[in-house]
Amino acid sequence: MTATRPEPRKGVLDIDAYVPGRSSAPGAARVFKLSSNESPLGPSPKAIAAYNAAGKHLEDYPDGSAADLREAIGRVFGLDPGRIVCGAGSDDLLNLLARAYLGDGDEAIHTTHGFLVYPIATRGTGATPVIAPEIEYTAHVDEILKRVTPKTKMIFLANPNNPTGTYVPFDEVKRLHNSLPPHVLFVIDAAYAEYVQRNDYESGIELVATSDNVVMTRTFSKIHGLAGLRLGWLYGPAHVVDAVNRIRGPFNVNLPAIAAGIAAIEDTAHQDYSREHNSKWLPWLSNEIGKLGLKVTPSAANFILIHFPPDQGRTAKDADAFLLKRGLVLRQVGAYKLPNALRMSVGTEEANRLVVQALAEFLGASK
Ligand SMILES: Cc1ncc(COP(=O)(O)O)c(C=O)c1O
Repeated sequence: MTATRPEPRKGVLDIDAYVPGRSSAPGAARVFKLSSNESPLGPSPKAIAAYNAAGKHLEDYPDGSAADLREAIGRVFGLDPGRIVCGAGSDDLLNLLARAYLGDGDEAIHTTHGFLVYPIATRGTGATPVIAPEIEYTAHVDEILKRVTPKTKMIFLANPNNPTGTYVPFDEVKRLHNSLPPHVLFVIDAAYAEYVQRNDYESGIELVATSDNVVMTRTFSKIHGLAGLRLGWLYGPAHVVDAVNRIRGPFNVNLPAIAAGIAAIEDTAHQDYSREHNSKWLPWLSNEIGKLGLKVTPSAANFILIHFPPDQGRTAKDADAFLLKRGLVLRQVGAYKLPNALRMSVGTEEANRLVVQALAEFLGASK
């Protein structure tokens, strides 16, 4: 039968659209946004200056290949700029990878509480997302491997993962890679890599450098504090870089983002400052909230997952409403199959202390 109106391709209408973290708290005098894992310290002042300077040239197209930015990233990480692609956020790159490598009948694996962009990007190509269970809110190599079939074309692994904050040690990442058929593209999403302070962690650079089927994605939205500019990059084998470059928008990264990105990646002092802030407040928050009797999943990133009991008056939703009235905006994670948890970004000292205080009140008041 002929359709009576245009129909999107198979899979598109099965997508649950991504719902970003709230940014407002109606009625609250001050708002602390802790719902999107943004940097509480903002970008490098040098990145802001570069952004402002770029504002004087908005009539010009940007360099479509973002060569200066790729070279700056290459210098900082010791990578070949020819194997880097920049994108409008790492979301852009994750979608481009899906578009380049997935199609009808294919499967892409991600884990139960994996980042929601993976199933969205997968379904958008007509392919099917396959979910590998996690153990203790952590991706598990054997569970992923069990689900690899001849249809599997891609594996998405966020390391550390959002919204759980957990990570897979490098030995296990290598074990996963070693057991994959060579035609499967292994995408390691290292959006939070800069925050990880663990000896057994590696962001993925080494695996990309030594194999033909691994890609690592990174973002300027987290430690670099440039989420509003939409900037990310990938490092991959030359043949993957070639495929992505053929389908990406010709000017997918804008001029101010390129300028600010170069300044940000070179300002390692600002990155250290942000990392040190996180390394101080991440354990503090986990301990203080743990002392209140709430379970906090151990996190290696810049946010924590807080678990609430299912009891009426004490649920994650109740806590969210309570905090929101005080201007403390956390993230409900029901869409991540975590209806009894809230995700909180590490904030400024003031915000962190206010959340702990408010949670103490919430638990006391609802006893
Ligand atoms: C695991 C993970 N990957 C990728 C992204 C997307 O980041 P970007 O702002 O670069 O698109 C996020 C953002 O929250 C994330 O949590």
